[in-house]
Amino acid sequence: MISRETIDEVKNRMDIVDVISDFVSLKKSGQNYKALSPFNNEKTPSFFVVPSKGIFKDFSSGKGGDSFTFVMEHEKLSYAETIRYLAKKYGVEIKEDRTSSESKEEQSEREGLYILMNFAKEYYKNILTNSEEGRSIGLSYFRERGFNDRTIEQFELGYALEGWELFSKEAVGKGYNKELLEKTGLVVKKEDGSSYDRFRGRVIFPVHNLAGKVIAFGARMLGKEKNQPKYINSPETDIYHKSDALYGLYQGKNAIRQQDVCYLVEGYTDVISMHQSGVENVVASSGTALTENQIKLIRRFTENITVLFDGDNAGIKAALRGIDMILRGGLNVRVLLFPDNEDPDSFSRKLGTTEFQKYLKDHTQDFVSFKANLYATEAAGDPIRKAESIKEIVSSIAVIPDPIKRSVYIQETSHLLKISEQVLLSELNKILIADRRKSEKEKVRSQDVDVPATTVDDIGTTSTIDPKSLVYYQERETIRLLLNYADQTIEEHTLTDFLLHELDDVEFTNEVFREIYIKFKNAIQENKTIDSHYFLKDGNDAVRAMVSDLMTARYDTSPHWGDKFHIYIPKEKDVLNEMALTNVLRLKFRIVQKMMDDNLQQVKKAEAVGDWDELDKALEIQTGLKKAESELAESLGIVVAK
Ligand code: CTP
Ligand code: MN
Repeated sequence: MISRETIDEVKNRMDIVDVISDFVSLKKSGQNYKALSPFNNEKTPSFFVVPSKGIFKDFSSGKGGDSFTFVMEHEKLSYAETIRYLAKKYGVEIKEDRTSSESKEEQSEREGLYILMNFAKEYYKNILTNSEEGRSIGLSYFRERGFNDRTIEQFELGYALEGWELFSKEAVGKGYNKELLEKTGLVVKKEDGSSYDRFRGRVIFPVHNLAGKVIAFGARMLGKEKNQPKYINSPETDIYHKSDALYGLYQGKNAIRQQDVCYLVEGYTDVISMHQSGVENVVASSGTALTENQIKLIRRFTENITVLFDGDNAGIKAALRGIDMILRGGLNVRVLLFPDNEDPDSFSRKLGTTEFQKYLKDHTQDFVSFKANLYATEAAGDPIRKAESIKEIVSSIAVIPDPIKRSVYIQETSHLLKISEQVLLSELNKILIADRRKSEKEKVRSQDVDVPATTVDDIGTTSTIDPKSLVYYQERETIRLLLNYADQTIEEHTLTDFLLHELDDVEFTNEVFREIYIKFKNAIQENKTIDSHYFLKDGNDAVRAMVSDLMTARYDTSPHWGDKFHIYIPKEKDVLNEMALTNVLRLKFRIVQKMMDDNLQQVKKAEAVGDWDELDKALEIQTGLKKAESELAESLGIVVAK
């Protein structure tokens, strides 16, 4: 039991902004701070910290509370562990009340694992500097790699002695139980019941979690013996999930936040050498592609990631594929290529601090330009290869969730590859349509349909689809035409004139569309012309997102259009007449159908309460609407049910 006194002292010293900042990148917002929720994956910040009250509130998960609550929730610690953690952070000495006799066995198992891992770390550290074998083999190895004392201390590097049971014996002698030793993975049990130490005769790299606790070890062999893995790593345990951990994040998180960029490298030694060269905002994925959880972890500190590639060309294309995952996570990706046969570790040592930092600055490239250049040189003069390159690049752009970023990248690629935006857009849309259709199918399967899976083409068969969504889609198509072809002429008018005239009596139901539509209307009245750029520059967030979506996602009002007509996409302008007219008719058709749907409710209500006057009126309206529907349908060449 930790004494009341200790808890009060911790409370006095702790500062919620400081506590949370160790885990989350907070941005000041008036008196308060906000951030993306660390508990949920979200795009707009709904996590708030109110320093004046010492509390936080996370609207996306509903969690809230003080510094204690935050650390408990975030780090999955018990109350006692949380107090210990905060006491350590603020240098408060822990005094225990002797009322409860908590023994090692009674402590929670996770806490036990942490304690044992910490014991092991201290043990390996101690061996490195204080034993003959540690110094002559382990320490001299680190020296050879150029690691100085400060670095060795900062990363808590260690050494495991040659010998099968030296560590186990030490731990058991200190009172740690055998079962727990096996659970940490530090000791391996054999079938005959005997056991041995996992790490022997290797240098040790502890892996820390965000709170600085050791959760795993990587152990590198020293010589070049064949038939032995270069690294032996801790297995998965209750406190270590490989796919959730990032080497170097604990040591680098403050720098990542400050520099607002995170460098991604492959291995332990890359992280450590870069630190020593003064580049501390770096993490390693341990030789594999980043997982979704690791990306989430990085996003708490920055939205920018720069992937560092070794200078051997063979691996690059494969590695580039891993980047799509990072793009999908919504991060901005940049890449940096080292010269032949250099990795971050070797190159940082070769150049020294100043030169190395300059190299990073000068050679970081935007990911799209990098990929485009890589493929462009390869495909030069070969049309087939060029077509493949376009697909390759556009497929990466397609996974970027933000439509504004997508359109910027399309522009850039168009410039770099000297290919028209139209062609790239049509390629992009093929992919987006295919993806959307896939996710719509999944949605239908999971029964939570909020957009229709079929739309305007299937007019004859859409009776089961919510008329409101159909109006939405048709409104969207109207706005899309306005944005893309505002000043094209049809029948001696501009498209804007035509649409505004034809839709004079129509009120848009969707707020964003209405806003855009009204802007067009006002512009006409003032004899001005506006186009998509106007909205991208001056619109609010919702307008900008919609406009860029409509600029890139052509034809995705209907998945079927994409398939049927994609070969015509570059020619959309040629069929504008037809399209504009059809669109007007379809929008009206949809609106009438929605009105019928609404009115039908009136009919039912009147029937239910026996209000015959009302019923008469409603039925008359319904008949009128039905007639309008038939007329519109006829113009559209559609047969509707009588
Ligand atoms: N790795 C591993 N097991 C191996 C080889 C590699 O787990 N047998 C992981 C380690 O996390 C390693 C990373 O992949 O850090 C990158 O591998 P590599 O470049 O070979 O290792 P470095 O740590 O860079 O080691 P060194 O420079 O000492 O060869
Ligand atoms: Mn290496």
